[in-house]
Amino acid sequence: MKVTKICCIGAGYVGGPTMAVIAQKCPHIQVTVVDLNEQRIKDWNDPDTNNIPIYEPGLSEIVAEARGRNLFFSTDVEKAIDEAQVIFISVNTPTKTYGKGKGMAADLKYIELCARQIAKVAKENKIVVEKSTLPVRTAEAIKSILDNTGNGVQFQILSNPEFLAEGTAVTDLLNPDRILIGGDTTPEGESAINALVDVYANWVDKSKILTTNVWSSELSKLTANAFLAQRISSINAMSELCEKTGADVNEVAKAIGMDSRIGPKFLKASVGFGGSCFQKDILNLVYIAKSYGLNEVADYWEQVIIMNDHQKRRFSSKIVQTLYNTVADKKITFLGWAFKKDTNDTRESAAIYVADDLINEQACISVYDPKVSESKMLNDLDYLQTRSSEENNKALTVFDDPYEACKGAHAISILTEWDEFISYDWQKIYDSMHKPAFLFDGRNILNAKELESIGFVYKGIGS
Ligand code: NAD
Ligand code: UGA
Repeated sequence: MKVTKICCIGAGYVGGPTMAVIAQKCPHIQVTVVDLNEQRIKDWNDPDTNNIPIYEPGLSEIVAEARGRNLFFSTDVEKAIDEAQVIFISVNTPTKTYGKGKGMAADLKYIELCARQIAKVAKENKIVVEKSTLPVRTAEAIKSILDNTGNGVQFQILSNPEFLAEGTAVTDLLNPDRILIGGDTTPEGESAINALVDVYANWVDKSKILTTNVWSSELSKLTANAFLAQRISSINAMSELCEKTGADVNEVAKAIGMDSRIGPKFLKASVGFGGSCFQKDILNLVYIAKSYGLNEVADYWEQVIIMNDHQKRRFSSKIVQTLYNTVADKKITFLGWAFKKDTNDTRESAAIYVADDLINEQACISVYDPKVSESKMLNDLDYLQTRSSEENNKALTVFDDPYEACKGAHAISILTEWDEFISYDWQKIYDSMHKPAFLFDGRNILNAKELESIGFVYKGIGS
């Protein structure tokens, strides 16, 4: 089958960029991205592509090229499903906040809604692609819904997990390490797999397109995220030991990373990993393992989360301890709120938890982040339900100028590794602060020696 029309349900951090790149690379395919969220679709259709709802380097240019040509954003979900031969499901799969599996299992209600809607609308055979990250064997549930509530048409379910990282989404999509496609081993399944392979083969070398059975594909995505997060928790565990022993975690990371079996990537000690996926996907993995009675497997992976929570808490405790065991009424300035640089996404950002701890200690938090809005920061704090919105509003002051944010501060904390922080006039910042001027570098991006020579009391991670 030659694919000419694709629909993607979910115009979020994955659906938007992924479909923009497919549209750019496959001008012969009409790509329609749909979402229930009207504001989000309105923003994707903003005449000025600099205002699209997701900030990713290079994305607005791709949207400008393809939008209106063969890339469309719409709230008309049914029409897009009806017209497409291939339907990607790219909706959110957050951790359940209620009922069985609360706090661990993936909440699949949005996935089920999509499956029911596809079943209702489809009048011709369709390929349904799981793009969202899902528990292993979800395809079985989707198939059951489609087959039992559909109009008698045939569905093929493929698993095609996404491995892009935020901040580098466009380059990751243009040059992926691999594309993974899982499908049935029947002739119909194989033909569906081939149809999707042909889409990606428009710009990805076939040697990088890996095809597997559905369950391997679903589980590979959870496994990849678990391994990546595990490396960060491992180096963060070592960072605490480094602080006690005089070793320097940057040097340790470099030394072990030069072993080609270990490799240098994902060994950067930090205030703790954030982002919408690592924690949710590992919790999901833990839940799945437990549900099969594999308690040792579950406990093994749960440690990755326990270590990460410890690392965030350890950072805030260190600030309090260093500031003579009290931060009450002190101005602590956060540089960065996003969970990593080059994104406006703040989901599960370490900054939120560190701020929450410090506000509990009655600190006054000032924040500067180049891409995150004040309302988003306040929403993040409100979501924790530690205190009222009014109290959060009072405790947090947001600046659009970093020098103003740092003026009169007792301490500065680097929470995100934005490049611009490195080239600030640190002498000017020092001069405007209370003394001693403390600097807690939660990302190890600044030059400790230079800052100490200015007069800062500099505390990095793991040294
Ligand atoms: P997101 O919250 O940014 O976007 C999901 C979108 O789906 C939202 O705009 C929501 O309104 C929409 N939606 C939900 N139900 C819908 C429905 N029934 N009909 C139409 N629209 C609906 O989420 P995201 O970050 O894009 O993540 C999506 C999936 O991709 C998740 O499973 C996630 O684990 C996975 N993933 C995310 C990343 C990432 O970097 N964010 C990377 C790889 C995989
Ligand atoms: C991660 C994976 O890298 C992607 O492959 C995956 O597709 C995605 O999750 C997903 O499934 O959502 P993302 O969360 O966007 O991507 O960003 P990462 O670069 O992985 O960073 C995650 C967090 O770990 C950030 O807070 C980052 O600052 C932190 N990190 C990363 C470290 O603390 N140290 C490192 O060495 C690397």
